[in-house]
Amino acid sequence: MSKLSIVAYTVGSLFFLVSCSFSIFYGYKVVTHHLPKEDSAVKKYNYHFVLVAEELDNEYWRLVDEGARAAAKKYDVLLEYAGPKQANLEDHLKTIEMSAAAKVDGIMTQGLSDEQFSPLINKVVAKGIPVITVDTDAANSRRQAYIGTDNYYSGFLAGKALIKDTKGKANVAIITGSFTKNHQIQRVKGFKDAVQFEKGIHIIAVEESEISRVIAAEKANQIMQGHPEVNAFFGTSALDGIEIAQVVEKYKKQNQIYIIGFDTLPETVKYIRQGTIKATVVQEPYEMGYGAVEMMINIIEGKRVDPIIHTNTRIARLEDLPAVGMGGRK
Ligand code: BGC
Repeated sequence: MSKLSIVAYTVGSLFFLVSCSFSIFYGYKVVTHHLPKEDSAVKKYNYHFVLVAEELDNEYWRLVDEGARAAAKKYDVLLEYAGPKQANLEDHLKTIEMSAAAKVDGIMTQGLSDEQFSPLINKVVAKGIPVITVDTDAANSRRQAYIGTDNYYSGFLAGKALIKDTKGKANVAIITGSFTKNHQIQRVKGFKDAVQFEKGIHIIAVEESEISRVIAAEKANQIMQGHPEVNAFFGTSALDGIEIAQVVEKYKKQNQIYIIGFDTLPETVKYIRQGTIKATVVQEPYEMGYGAVEMMINIIEGKRVDPIIHTNTRIARLEDLPAVGMGGRK
């Protein structure tokens, strides 16, 4: 072998080894992504909880997970973050069932609908596994407690903010995450109740995004085309406002159209800074996750727990951004 080919061979082998270890590392990370770093088989944890998210890849849910993970670390809890990659009711329910079958010590999940979630939650609780609803309550189920936004009130706040910012004159289109999920129904209801006696506020259209960015953008587009009289939008789940803003900018209508969204994800904050989103409803996903783990421990240890804890919710506009933070993250 020539000197050159020895060098090429050595460099090639090194490259191969490095890329192998990268893929092993990242492959490992993909599989164990939802578990704490320490080796769960070796380390003894006090409890094993599962946090079931509506959508794993959603930044809002990553904040809930971040909060839960911080509390889990503090109290030596093995925490799994599980659920559908993209919002999907069947997968969500299946994840709860599988967690119960695995006999975890506690399940934290939304209670998205009374028909589908309450019977399952009741079954899990009857098996002796405590359930806390997070972000969205199934108030008629036997869940031990709820921690999250008062969704009706948050929608009501949005309605009041829109009245104030538009001086009581607006043709409004609502894009909601879902027509059938509790949190979205309550947000829309709160909003409608807040504006119901305002003579100058008209709700022109209510559309559903199915918690999907693509559909939210499609619906915003259809509204822009089909209802030129619409000059205000309300997006009731984290990604709706972002997609509405994108579409409104595409039409270069950001100066004519008022947008109020939900949550303070980085993209939402960006659009507020640009002046495209005028206001947003702040939720505290980090606090929800952190609080849920603490509540779960208290329930298991027989301590008194408030059955309903409403995390803070308020309206933020451009001038409030410095104080907003990112979903309550510490
Ligand atoms: C809601 C979450 C939902 C998310 C979807 C948030 O506003 O509180 O329940 O999963 O939006 O993007």
